[in-house]
Amino acid sequence: MLVLGIESSCDETGVALVRADMRMNAITPVLLAHALHTQVAMHADYGGVVPELASRDHIRRVLPLTQHVLAQADQPLAAIDVVAYTRGPGLAGALLVGAGVACALAASLGKPTLGTHHLEGHLLSPFLSADPPRFPFVALLVSGGHTQLMRVDGVGRYTLLGETIDDAAGEAFDKSAKLLGLGYPGGPALARLADFGNPQSFTLPRPLLHSGDLDFSFAGLKTAVLTQTRKLGNVCEQVRADLAASTQEAIVEVLVKKSLAALRQTGLNRLVVAGGVGANRRLREELDATCAARGVRVHYPELHLCTDNGAMIALAAAMRLQAGVDAARCDYAFNVKPRWGLEEVGARLPAEVFPGG
Ligand code: KG4
Ligand code: ZN
Repeated sequence: MLVLGIESSCDETGVALVRADMRMNAITPVLLAHALHTQVAMHADYGGVVPELASRDHIRRVLPLTQHVLAQADQPLAAIDVVAYTRGPGLAGALLVGAGVACALAASLGKPTLGTHHLEGHLLSPFLSADPPRFPFVALLVSGGHTQLMRVDGVGRYTLLGETIDDAAGEAFDKSAKLLGLGYPGGPALARLADFGNPQSFTLPRPLLHSGDLDFSFAGLKTAVLTQTRKLGNVCEQVRADLAASTQEAIVEVLVKKSLAALRQTGLNRLVVAGGVGANRRLREELDATCAARGVRVHYPELHLCTDNGAMIALAAAMRLQAGVDAARCDYAFNVKPRWGLEEVGARLPAEVFPGG
């Protein structure tokens, strides 16, 4: 079975082709080709994502990327068996572009579609790595919009253990970066500056670190960074690097300690880290060291599949179909879900008709 995956939930247009063998459900689907266009340069002038511009750019990119992926995999359009697309969460207009193109393409081919959850894509993306995880595991999902700890018992079997009550970890990186005068997207820029700083220079809050639950809060950290930048005024590059390093250290410490608490609480010894912030080198170093000391295996997606991409969407669809928890459909009546909790993505019955679809 060949699955074409289209991702368009935010500022990246991603298209990929994944092959899954339906008779051998223990085998992880294989990524045949993927292509990505990032809108970073376009949004940089505005200091953040402009939803209307994002949608228009997805329209421009999605078909050329699809042609590119098919050529790369040496497959004709007619070879596609299922067209998967990101149904949510994300920007409504941007999601509608991917959903509309996916349904139109599938309808013209007479093939079914499957609307996929963006975070399920991130969560399952380590299955495309050289060191894929085994169920069950704890997942730390850290993206621009979400910070969640999930217990994952299988495809479509997700239990929310804790999540952020305000800003996401990626947002904390992005907003702190902005306060430090760094461009968009802030996370990688802050991480680069932090490489030259001393993480012990500033004492910043570790919100909810000792709350006894698995929830996160990063809004207070951003306020502390704001207070520091105001107090410091125009400072030399070294002090900015020190503040960047201290901010990164605070975020990383909270993420690592809460992940360990989730592992303790569930009694599991496997951790999957996914989402854009999972690309952070300091987070990986800390997780690797602390988990190794406790006999916990940590799995990451390949670095280039940490941030948004079409491969994870094709993969999630293929794995749902392969596990028999979902069915592709031919009604071509797409309705996107800009707000959509991952814990809602249980097994879906083949006969389900989406409300309003
Ligand atoms: O998963 P993702 O690509 O998009 C969403 O679904 O949100 O995550 C984007 C987030 C942004 O907040 C970005 O600043 C952050 O991931 N990010 C990083 C790094 N690379 C991306 N944060 C810290 N360090 C990085 N190296
Ligand atoms: Zn994402």
